[in-house]
Amino acid sequence: MSQPSGTWYDTLTSTPVLIATAVGVSFAAIFAASSSKTPQQVKEQVKEVKNGVVNAADAKGKAAQAGASIMSAPAADLAPPKDDPIPSSELSQYDGSDPSKPIYVAIKGRVFDVTNKPEMYGKGKGYNIFAGRDASKGLGMSSLDIKDAVPDYSSLNESQMNTLNQWESFFEKRYNVVGKVVP
Ligand code: HEM
Repeated sequence: MSQPSGTWYDTLTSTPVLIATAVGVSFAAIFAASSSKTPQQVKEQVKEVKNGVVNAADAKGKAAQAGASIMSAPAADLAPPKDDPIPSSELSQYDGSDPSKPIYVAIKGRVFDVTNKPEMYGKGKGYNIFAGRDASKGLGMSSLDIKDAVPDYSSLNESQMNTLNQWESFFEKRYNVVGKVVP
């Protein structure tokens, strides 16, 4: 799989690694969720990122290289987007805690069906914070903090808005829109 360089995709795929470097979070857990890699490849990549990152430019280069093969590919078979109203009280049921129910993530009020990614959004998984709610603000801030997992993103600055828009575009290419959040 190859992606054009210098696009939002580069920025997106390199952002988590830069964040990780900054906050010192463990890479292993999240990389392990990336199913397209063998454990050895994952280990090597984790090692490379952990040891090799000395400055931001270097990190960005490595991340762009690694990123293009780490992020899941866009979906080829998306259904036409739906506009069904989904009350937020109902949305919260689709947070991955009941394996018999779908998992939904809302961005800017649009509800995406991420049921096929339980390893990321399921109960106890790294991105479960985004499941069953609209956490647009947190996405824009690259924050996994529960206090940022709210729909009101009006406080985001320009660069955070770009990040949010990139995530929105990422989801649009990968997940079916099943409705819109209503109060
Ligand atoms: C320790 C730092 C981080 C690392 C190493 C990391 C790594 C990754 C990787 C490898 C993927 C691709 C997984 C796949 O497509 O199978 C991914 C996806 C993602 N990351 Fe991170 N990430 C980090 C931090 C963050 C933070 C702080 C956020 C908060 C916004 C975030 C949000 C996401 C989201 C929403 C996805 C998309 C999952 C999907 O639907 O495929 N990540 N991350």
